Amino acid sequence: MTGFDPRTAFDLTGRTALVTGGSRGLGRQIAEGFARAGATVIVASRNLESCRAAAAEITRDTGATAHPAALHVGRWDTLAPFVEKLVAEHGEIDVLVNNAGMSPLYDAVTDVTEALFDKVLDVNLKGPFRLAALLGTRMAAGRGGSIINITSTGAVRPSPHILPYAAAKAGLNTLTAGLAHTFGPTVRVNAIMAGTFLTDVSKAWDMDAFAARAARFAAGRGGQPSEIVGAALYLASDAAGYTTGSVLTVDGGQP
Ligand SMILES: NC(=O)c1ccc[n+]([C@@H]2O[C@H](COP(=O)([O-])OP(=O)(O)OC[C@H]3O[C@@H](n4cnc5c(N)ncnc54)[C@H](OP(=O)(O)O)[C@@H]3O)[C@@H](O)[C@H]2O)c1
Repeated sequence: MTGFDPRTAFDLTGRTALVTGGSRGLGRQIAEGFARAGATVIVASRNLESCRAAAAEITRDTGATAHPAALHVGRWDTLAPFVEKLVAEHGEIDVLVNNAGMSPLYDAVTDVTEALFDKVLDVNLKGPFRLAALLGTRMAAGRGGSIINITSTGAVRPSPHILPYAAAKAGLNTLTAGLAHTFGPTVRVNAIMAGTFLTDVSKAWDMDAFAARAARFAAGRGGQPSEIVGAALYLASDAAGYTTGSVLTVDGGQP
């Protein structure tokens, strides 16, 4: 690249992006942002109806094409057939956003059952690994691509009520660096380490207690879901041509 033209560097025209957990929250915003940048997007989550609704809204609002897909990222054995079917229907995937995630709360660490621990690792770590393995291999054999893992600042600042989740997200940060080497140079693999965003997950929070905590953030507040999109678009696009194996923190400056 001899010069940098922002009008083309962030353009995703002709690319197809799979956004797991694209029906709500951060994934929904990322899917819409990518569509506005010209991508065809696939909105995937467990609830097909909500994916259909999100895909229809994105298609209506952006003029790009969005497709719904049913996907449970915590079911390892279903992921290879899912990828085969997806590619058969929509062609090769250029961008994978491993966004689907969950963190069930618990009171005492002794309340963490093996089943809960396994489920949290299945969804937040094993599923993203398997999807990256399957799609990264295809991307590397074809026209290249970008994989973006959505992790959490809990990975580096683990609070007592999210320990399995924090460990899973720390593992995903580590996988990000390793997968960048696995699939480079034509496939870039990066993570966005998200801080506190006001999505459905925040509906269960004590907002007064949160406001007191957020006052100590450099930004002084929690993030709006749309405020993740710029980072995701950067990592998905040619603008990030030399950015791979990185973990980009987007947390409003949490201490
Ligand atoms: N919000 C935050 O403050 C925050 C902070 C740090 C990191 N993050 C991370 O950011 C990502 C998105 O979080 P969010 O706040 O946007 O979550 P959210 O609002 O709860 O949305 C979660 C999305 O993931 C889907 N999903 C959940 N489990 C799934 C599964 N097993 N298979 C496929 N899809 C699944 C949901 O749809 P269905 O229910 O239809 O499956 C939904 O589309 C997660 O990885 C989360 O850990 C969020």
